Amino acid sequence: MLVAAAWLHDIGYAPGLRDTGFHPLDGARHLRGIGWPLAICNLVAHHSGARFVARVLKLDRELGAYPFSQDVVSDALTVADQTTGMHGEAMLPEERIRDMLERHGPDSANALAHPQREPYLRAAAARVAQRLHSIGVHTEFAAVAA
Ligand SMILES: [Fe+2]
Repeated sequence: MLVAAAWLHDIGYAPGLRDTGFHPLDGARHLRGIGWPLAICNLVAHHSGARFVARVLKLDRELGAYPFSQDVVSDALTVADQTTGMHGEAMLPEERIRDMLERHGPDSANALAHPQREPYLRAAAARVAQRLHSIGVHTEFAAVAA
């Protein structure tokens, strides 16, 4: 489930799938329309705290068609996204967030949602770091996640 959602999470950026212009929602709608399981569509719809941005864009009702579940899989998907740069390079969540804000600009929905979204991203990173730590895997982002 995690691997499938990771491959598919940004599919809504594909120009041919653009509907609302909000890629998590457009991607989830597309996947649902071609028969992907709702659980995968929900993960795509909500990756990386999309619900906070949807609120700014006034798309929260539409996004609400895809229930959000805060769990080990949604945390792992979000943290995988938030520790990977635009070209697949490893990044710390702090760097990735800074990069996202620069790319989207100060007036963007991402920037406007940032005060609500950032604590969620940091908390997800802390939970993932803790889970990995409990099985003996130490992450670079553990120190900055808390
Ligand atoms: Fe995305």
